[in-house]
Formats: sequence, structure tokens, C-alpha cells
Amino acid sequence: MKSIEKLKNIEGKKVLLRLDLNVPLLKGEIVDTTRIDKVIPTLNFLVEKKAKVIIISHIGRPKGKIVKELSLKPITLSIKEKIKKDVFLLTKNIFELDPKEIFGNSNYNIALLENIRFYPEEESNDNEFSKKLASLGEIYVNDAFSCSHRDHASVSKITKFIPSYSGFQINTEVNALNKITSEIKKPVTCIIGGSKISSKIKVIKNLIPKFDNIIIVGAMANNIFKYKGLKIGKSIYEKNFDNIVKEIFSYAETNNCKIFFPIDVKVGKKLNDISTEKEFLEIDNDDIILDVGSKTLKKIKDIIDNSSTILWNGPLGYFENVNFSIGSSEIAKHIANKRDKIFSVAGGGDTVAVINSLNIKDEFGFVSTAGGAFLEYLEGKVLPGIKALN
Ligand code: 3PG
Repeated sequence: MKSIEKLKNIEGKKVLLRLDLNVPLLKGEIVDTTRIDKVIPTLNFLVEKKAKVIIISHIGRPKGKIVKELSLKPITLSIKEKIKKDVFLLTKNIFELDPKEIFGNSNYNIALLENIRFYPEEESNDNEFSKKLASLGEIYVNDAFSCSHRDHASVSKITKFIPSYSGFQINTEVNALNKITSEIKKPVTCIIGGSKISSKIKVIKNLIPKFDNIIIVGAMANNIFKYKGLKIGKSIYEKNFDNIVKEIFSYAETNNCKIFFPIDVKVGKKLNDISTEKEFLEIDNDDIILDVGSKTLKKIKDIIDNSSTILWNGPLGYFENVNFSIGSSEIAKHIANKRDKIFSVAGGGDTVAVINSLNIKDEFGFVSTAGGAFLEYLEGKVLPGIKALN
């Protein structure tokens, strides 16, 4: 990858900077700013070189439509506070945007385009949209490792139309993960949780030959429960995934990888409920599974104790409600306490938020901003965003 450090004489040049500002939000407030903090060095570097920076990012999954709650407005304010410079949110439709009008005669040096996923052309990796985006700047920098597994217009296709570079954060993440995967010590346990069931469940099969144990928790475990004929009440699950789950179990057996999933759970009737611990047989039709139970926690801790490396992506439950955050925080603390014996890598916006809320980031071997991208990197895939920069 051509690194940003190679950029010389960029005074007054317009730099399109792809970041992943997909930070966890709760009622419009940012829960954790790690993904913003990590890209400040890149932003400062460009500002110090007197470039005009146009930030591109997505937040959430608005599916090609304008969703007010998924505006980048709160993120704009946070960046402004952190770099102590004016930043403005550009809400005009990109197709109608004349590159000259972005900064006009203003003194601003940093603009942020509104959520790029408000445009369906972003996820469809549309050629014309990528070209239009590229025409807004003179140089493109990708510093969004955590969404470089997405073959999207502002991540990969754009690089066909504009000289492209990698940012400091993407360089750090790629170097760290390369080192970790080449020096990994067995037994290796991978904990996969969170709520992005469909994207992650497909990755599990490819991870099986690489690891000794895979612990499936969070909403993804609901698909396993369903497949096993266990009650899940009205918990979320992904339809038509039974075949994948079946394949996961049979492939794990032939590859000597143990798959573990929760044996008891905590439920609520709604997301902001108090928690009740239940065995599967006790689950009511209106219950939602929102955390793992205490027997499960004990089992997971045992597996961790017998591992040399832990890779973790995705919370164990709905950690946004403190009543269902016990599973995630107990496991985070347990891994942190074993730091002398176990090498640990944790990744993903929500996972990092859990770790930061406990102030134990430094007890982990490496903390990646990436979740899905981290898992796909572990699979050994060449990520489209990285490939495009090479
Ligand atoms: C992430 O949070 O992992 C990235 O921002 C990518 O988000 P996505 O899974 O919605 O593509």
C-alpha cells in the first residue's frame, strides 16, 4: 500500500478521506469514540500539511435511504471538539455537488459528507457514483480498516479514478494483525458475538480449520438454538440459515474444532427490561434472549483458561442495557486478568466500547477497531479495500 507519509506538497489540495465513523450510538449520543480517536493522527497530518479534507463515512445500515437518526451530525461535533478546528457537515446531494462549492471562499479546511450509505450506489459499488465521488477531490486516502471488507464505492471502486493512499490507522491495524496471525500460539479460542448475524455466520465456517474452539454468543447464537430445536421466544434470528449451521457443526467435527454455544440465558420482555436468568425450557413466547446465563459464563471462563490465544469480536449480550451487560463485562475482565498467560486480541466497535467502559484496554494484547473486517482478515481473505490500495 502507498502510505499517506509519501504525500508531499499537498497544500490546498482536496483530499478525500474515507474513515469508519460507525461509532455506537444510543439515543443520538456517542457511546464510545475509539473509532474517532484512532484517526485523529491522519486528520492532523493532512491539516498540518494544509490540505483541504473531505471526510467520507457511513454510520449504521440505512439501506440507501435518508434516515434522520443515522446522520453524521453528532460525529461532526465530536471531531470538531477533538481537533479544535472547524468542521462542517455537507448535506447537499452528492450528485448535485460542484467540487468548487465544497469549501467555496470559506476558511474551513475540513468538510464531512453526510452518511454515504444514504445513497444506494455506495453499497452497489456503482461506477458512476464512484467517479462522481472521486471528482470531488484530487487525492484519496483510506483510513477505514474496519470497513475495508466491504466492496463499496467509497472503499474500493473509487480508487480506480483517483491516486489512492493508506492512512496511519489502516497501516497500524494491518501490520499488527499480520504479526499476530503469523505468530499465533495454540490452543486458539475465537469468541464471536454481536447482532450482525448474517455477515458473521458465514465467516465461522472458514475460521473452523484455524482454531481449536469457537464460542458463538450474542444474537448469532439464536440461530444455533433455533437449529437445535430450543425455545428462543421472540429473539431475533436470521431465517434460512439452518444449512449453514448444520455445515458449521459437521465441518467442526472433521476439523477437530469445538463449537460452544450458551447453555443458559438471560431474558427480558423488552430491551430496557430487567434481566431474568432462564433455562431454555422455561423461555416464554414473549421473552427476548439478551445475555448469557451464569452456567454459560463459567464454561466460557474454563475454555479461556485452557487457551493460549483469545480472539474476540462481538458482545455476549445487549450490553447497552446494563442489566444485560454482565456476560460481556465478565468475559472482558476475565481475559484481562489472564494477560500474563494468554495473548488476546479484541475487535469491533461494540466490543471496544465494552472494554473501554471497564478501563482495561491496556490489558489486551491488541485492540482492533474492526469487527467484521477483523474476522474476514483472520479467515485469510484479501479485503477489497486493501486490495484496491495495492
Ligand atoms: C463495522 O462496524 O464493522 C463497520 O463499520 C462495517 O459495518 P457494516 O457491517 O454495516 O458493513
